[in-house]
Amino acid sequence: MSLTVDRPGARDEDADGATAAVPEPAHRLRRTRRTETLRAFVRETRIHPRQLVAPLFVYPGSGGRQPVGSMPGVERVTPDEALRDARALEALGIGGVILFGLPAEKDAQGSGGWIPDGIVQETLRRFRDADLDLALVADLCLCEYTDHGHCGPLLADGSVDNDATIELYARTAVSQAEAGADIVAPSGMMDGQVRAIRAGLDAAGRHDTAIMAYAAKTASAFYGPFRDAAGSTPSFGDRRGYQMDPANGRESLREMQVDVDEGADMLLVKPALPSLDILAAARARFDLPIGAYQVSGEYASIEAAAANGWLDRRRALIESTTAILRAGAGFVITYAAADLATWSREA
Ligand code: PBG
Repeated sequence: MSLTVDRPGARDEDADGATAAVPEPAHRLRRTRRTETLRAFVRETRIHPRQLVAPLFVYPGSGGRQPVGSMPGVERVTPDEALRDARALEALGIGGVILFGLPAEKDAQGSGGWIPDGIVQETLRRFRDADLDLALVADLCLCEYTDHGHCGPLLADGSVDNDATIELYARTAVSQAEAGADIVAPSGMMDGQVRAIRAGLDAAGRHDTAIMAYAAKTASAFYGPFRDAAGSTPSFGDRRGYQMDPANGRESLREMQVDVDEGADMLLVKPALPSLDILAAARARFDLPIGAYQVSGEYASIEAAAANGWLDRRRALIESTTAILRAGAGFVITYAAADLATWSREA
């Protein structure tokens, strides 16, 4: 057999000029990689559409769709169009949707988040009335509704007032539950938010509403395109006073433990690819459902590189989502949910 690769051992020649015997590999791992049939048979991780959650950005009006420039394929939609999208996602067998609202008006408190005729509430009522086979998740934060773009009302020094904010989160949770949310997903990273929300829901008789706690959420550079989509960029400062330092893995486990103790029903790690170690550690430590949010910047990076022909979009999206599941996520919030569901059916 002629050698086409340079193997160091193959160059040793004995006195007669004959090639010394190269030992056979002791383990032949390539046997199960030989054909796609065998690879599919031994594959450890698969993407199932039910594990995917699609974000939806809703704004008031009807018949409206606006593309989000920094997120190709993502649109802001009015409630009627959102219902159309939700039905298409349901037909693909997707697990759920998570709603983000773009209110007509903003104020210092973020009242658009909890008023009964808020944009998310209006959309939830439509979805509930349509009896969709989708988990209805409401993102629970006030940064989309405050005129300053922070995640709750401010103190005089410009920092977010933690304890006033969690009261408003509780109020928002009740309003979202009354409108039809199965799950509320607090993403503001205030101390005590899960406990306050659970207490608020229970006091309102909403014992059945579950809490998906954005437990380990870092102050990530990868949220940029989302803030463009949701109009929630802080008008001053940043979110490092409440979101976690991405350098801290142990602290993220403390955050999760606190949320478990406060009554979270499921945990979320965010962003996803930059947090795979945290996801794996969380999976080993907690027995709750754990999800990950592949955020706007993770999605936009892949889209931009694919648009330039620098990587294969489909393969990059499947690979990154598979890695998130392999690391321990039971579900993934992703802007590519519809495509991934379609591809997983073809696979
Ligand atoms: C609200 C919220 C944000 C995201 C989800 N919920 C923005 C932020 O924290 O600034 C980001 C999602 C994404 O980037 O896709 N607090």
